[in-house]
Amino acid sequence: MNIDDSFYVVDLGRVLELHRDWVTALPTVTPFYAVKCNNDPALLKTLAALGTGFDCASKVLYYKFLFCFTFSQTKQAEIKGMLDLGVTPSRIIYANPCKKLSHLKYAVEMGVETMTFDCDSELLKIQEECSSARLVLRIRADDPEAQWKLGIKFGCTVPEGKHLLSTAKNLGLNIIGVCFHVGSGSLSPRAYELALKMSAELFEYGYKIGYQFSLLDIGGGFPGDKGSKEVFQRVASAINSSLDSLFSSFPGLTVIAEPGFYFACSTHQIAVSVISKKSCDTKEGRKFMYYLNDGFYSAFRWISSYEVTPTPIVITESSGPLYPSILWGPTCDALDKFGRQYPPSRTKYRGLGLL
Ligand SMILES: Cc1ncc(COP(=O)(O)O)c(C=O)c1O
Repeated sequence: MNIDDSFYVVDLGRVLELHRDWVTALPTVTPFYAVKCNNDPALLKTLAALGTGFDCASKVLYYKFLFCFTFSQTKQAEIKGMLDLGVTPSRIIYANPCKKLSHLKYAVEMGVETMTFDCDSELLKIQEECSSARLVLRIRADDPEAQWKLGIKFGCTVPEGKHLLSTAKNLGLNIIGVCFHVGSGSLSPRAYELALKMSAELFEYGYKIGYQFSLLDIGGGFPGDKGSKEVFQRVASAINSSLDSLFSSFPGLTVIAEPGFYFACSTHQIAVSVISKKSCDTKEGRKFMYYLNDGFYSAFRWISSYEVTPTPIVITESSGPLYPSILWGPTCDALDKFGRQYPPSRTKYRGLGLL
């Protein structure tokens, strides 16, 4: 690493704390950390040592960005990365309802047999490649208030789910349960209650047509910001009550979840530095433009699509007047800009220094 690269500071003590809070609040639900959320090796190794499972959405994911007519690429190892860390295949769920054929073949070859689906075409693909796979039906159960709704992309309705279960039965496929994701950044106990009710209806339908489901996967969506412990506990208590009332007649049931943000958010801070700065005199007065060593094409690629505003913490405070400021990423692209949505108080700095 060069001295002028950005880097993460990962609080592994906080990972242990979050895991302890999870086990206390949801003692019957095993977390399968969603690797896509952040595949930092220190985080993954710590969670693996704590005995969690892992939700992987690919063998290896490549993000490609078109930038100045060339592609730049970053790589995120998911199933392969976890197996390389020594995690056994039974601790991995391949939780991408629409899988690349080569990734599906790899997963099966490596013994990762638990995987999600939400449509006929995926069932046919799986029947061809690995008819003994342990399949989990993904239903759509969006919290309308969630920050990022995932149901627009994945998940079927309950009637569609019944049709898919019947189709799977006719194809002789092994369906072992139901999963859902209420959407990331959900703060709603009610959303989980409704999703669990829909899941129970499909468990009963599955039983009627000859399946005995053994897995319920309640997805992600759990809040991860500092200070969200109380909300998490309210959500957990609603989940526990629904599990008791709706699923106690299904003996030997394993319940898992796929938390991402919960473990990756408050545990990580990114340290960036100012690589250049300019002052500009405008009609409205003096402004500063700061150029940072990370931006939209790397660690902050999510800020525009998700309208999230990272909170900058200036570590070299000085006295003097505050000026409106614009923060830019390091590339030559004008899209590589922070803070389009910042309130003015968050983008006023007293002449940040260069590192
Ligand atoms: C299938 C699946 N599981 C889990 C997660 C993690 O969700 P969260 O970070 O909201 O816990 C995601 C996020 O995209 C997902 O798509």
